[in-house]
Amino acid sequence: MIIALNNKSNLNKEAFLSYQEKLRGLEHTCQVILCPTYLNVNLFNLEGISLGAQNVSTEDPGAFTGEISAKDLKNSGVEYCIVGHSERRTYQRESLEEVHKKVVKLFENDITPILCIGETKEEREQGLVGSILKEEIETAISGLTEEQKARLIIAYEPIWSIGTGIIPTIEQITEVLTFIKSFLPNTTLLYGGSANEKNIDMLKECTLIEGYLLGGLSLKPEELQVFINKA
Ligand code: 13P
Repeated sequence: MIIALNNKSNLNKEAFLSYQEKLRGLEHTCQVILCPTYLNVNLFNLEGISLGAQNVSTEDPGAFTGEISAKDLKNSGVEYCIVGHSERRTYQRESLEEVHKKVVKLFENDITPILCIGETKEEREQGLVGSILKEEIETAISGLTEEQKARLIIAYEPIWSIGTGIIPTIEQITEVLTFIKSFLPNTTLLYGGSANEKNIDMLKECTLIEGYLLGGLSLKPEELQVFINKA
């Protein structure tokens, strides 16, 4: 079981340091991956929790103002990196090709990508879930070896569920994860989108979910502990 924590752009330096002290007391037997902001990556100092990042440059170090390369992330102890989060695909207009380049750069630097995929409410209503997710996956993994595909982590995050308090039905999640497993049988699959300590009892009925990518809940250590205990 993987519990990945996406802090998004929350927690300034002081807030992160006190948050980190609370996480130090987290009791868990699962694999916890903390993805803080870039600035907080170098403040990370926890045992028993892995370090992740939320984004990476498509390029090696060089003349790319404002970017952080996979090489530098690796040098800072980053082992996992979220790629293609819907917020970046929407607000930064991150393209399918950029997501692919990032996945490749991460593997080149021995960092495990956590590839986010998901459909909008409109796409679901139009029956486009399968084609949207297939395109997001196929472009991202093009050219990967079987070994890399087995190391890859995919987080299914329906866009209509992120931060809304609405979660899909178990049948909807099962349908999507079964679909992904049909062509990526060895890839680890996470669910993300409004997962919390109240709906975990329902979510865990879906046996295909191998872990969770948590946004809002990542910022609440007490509730997070309850979630982990139940998951
Ligand atoms: P919430 O858990 O806040 O819905 O966010 C999910 C998410 O986007 C994690 O990457």
